Formats: sequence, C-alpha cells, structure tokens
Amino acid sequence: MDKWDCRNLRLDGKAVLIAGAGGLGSAIARGVSEAGARVLLADLDLAAAKRVARTIQKKKGSCSACKMDILKPVQITRATRFCRQSLGGMDVAINCTGINIRKPSLNLTGKDWDRVLEVNLKGAFFFAQGAARTFIQQGRRGKIIVLGSVLSFSGMEDRAAYVASKAGLVGLTKALAVEWAPYHIHVNAVAPTFIPTSINRETLAGEFRKRLMDRTPFRRLGKPQDVVGAVIFLASDASDFITGHTIPVDGGWLSA
Ligand SMILES: NC(=O)c1ccc[n+]([C@@H]2O[C@H](COP(=O)([O-])OP(=O)(O)OC[C@H]3O[C@@H](n4cnc5c(N)ncnc54)[C@H](O)[C@@H]3O)[C@@H](O)[C@H]2O)c1
Repeated sequence: MDKWDCRNLRLDGKAVLIAGAGGLGSAIARGVSEAGARVLLADLDLAAAKRVARTIQKKKGSCSACKMDILKPVQITRATRFCRQSLGGMDVAINCTGINIRKPSLNLTGKDWDRVLEVNLKGAFFFAQGAARTFIQQGRRGKIIVLGSVLSFSGMEDRAAYVASKAGLVGLTKALAVEWAPYHIHVNAVAPTFIPTSINRETLAGEFRKRLMDRTPFRRLGKPQDVVGAVIFLASDASDFITGHTIPVDGGWLSA
C-alpha cells in the first residue's frame, strides 16, 4: 500500500474460503460478502453451509458451499481447489470451526482431550497449511485468519482442553506468521469473548451469564456481528503490515 485509501478496508475482488458455517462463521461469511468478497463456505455439515450460502445469495452476494472435514488434509485440498476453480483463486482463508467439551478436569478423558485438541489445534494447522500451499502455488500473497478466544489468554474451570487448544493457537499464529512472511502470507487471529452460538448456548444462562456480564465493562455478552469488523480488517489491505497477532474482541473482558 503506497497511499492510504478508505477502500483498503473493502474486500472487493477477493476470494475467501471460510471453514465453519456455525454462529460466527455464518456472520463472518455475510460480513465479508457485504464487504465485496466472493465466498466459499466449507463445513463438515454441508446442509448448514448450504443454508448460509442461500441467505447470502438472496442478498445478491456470491457464496457457494462445500463439505470439508478440517481433520482431513485431502478434503482441505479439495476445498482449496474448488475455491480456485469456482472463485478464480484464493486470497483469504478464515477458520471458524471449533468444538468444546466442558467437564471438570478430574474427569476429562484422553479421548475428550484428543478430540478438542485435534479439531481446534491440529485442524487449524492443517487448514492453514492447505491455505498457505494454495497461496504459494498461485504465486500470490494471502491472509490466514484463525479464531482464538478470550480463553486463549485466560483460564476457566471445566475447560482445560479448550483453553489449552486456544492458547496453542496464539503460538501457532506467531510461528506460521514468522515462517510464511517471506511468501507474503499474513497469519493473524481474533479472540472473541462469549457469544451465544451452538458451541455454548446452553451454558450462557443464569449465574454464569451474570458472572460474565459483571466482568465485562460493556455489561453484555458478544454478538456474532461484533467479530466481523476485526475479521474484515485482518482480511483487507488495511492490515498489510500486521502479522502474528491475536486481536481480542471482548468488550473489555480481558482488561477487567
Ligand atoms: N461462540 C463463542 O462464544 C466463541 C468465543 C470465542 C471463540 N469462539 C470460536 O469461534 C469458532 C466458531 O465458533 P461458533 O461460535 O461459530 O461455534 P459453532 O458451534 O456455531 O460453529 C462451529 C462450526 O464448526 C463446524 N465443525 C466442527 N468440527 C468440524 C470439523 N472437523 N470439520 C469442519 N467443520 C467442523 C461445525 O459443524 C460448526 O458449523 C470456534 O473456533 C470457537 O471456539 C467462539
């Protein structure tokens, strides 16, 4: 970027692969589409990805859907190939997949631990690797965005595997940013606070909800749309000199 221009915050002409069509992935897909991008939405749950794609198409946005298991590198390669073929390339890859298993650590099994670390950390690595290979094959720069959490930076009971996976993503983001900067690939993360979606809706009630709100200077939980601005910024040319960072979107939760 030689000269500042507000259009640097737009995503016109960019092709974006989004993994995960859940609460945050669907809001991010809608947001990047409204910012001008063409979107391919990939999820284990193809029906969910198709539903989100249809809502975007109804608003005249460009969005298609495909099935992808983030733990299967072959399926990631297939999704990146489909992205290049159907959208004419790939400029940005955003990982919005994730799971949580909430249990007291004294009862957490090896299977629970492996499942959470696999999807949240190994899956994030496979997805970033597939995206970076695609950017390098295309011979063009690219941006990778990871979904961390406020629990990347803070502990909480009954969430040992989730907290470990999300803290790990902060390190992974830094490691890949340093390694892939020579290819002009940016790797950054956003770290949202608690937002009611299918990953946690049933837990965000009663006393726990009150405890979260009491600690949040803005006195509310997050909404999926709160995360969209930070993601668009990291996907856009406006963030061209930023890599390796994790931006909290937390209403002040981590500062309190
Ligand atoms: N909602 C929150 O409070 C919150 C807060 C901080 C961070 N996050 C993170 O944001 C990301 C998105 O969360 P969300 O709230 O949208 O959750 P969600 O449950 O609504 O969506 C998660 C999506 O991931 C998909 N998925 C799960 N395993 C997969 C796999 N193996 N391959 C492909 N897709 C798979 C699911 O089908 C689902 O569509 C997660 O990484 C989550 O940890 C969420």
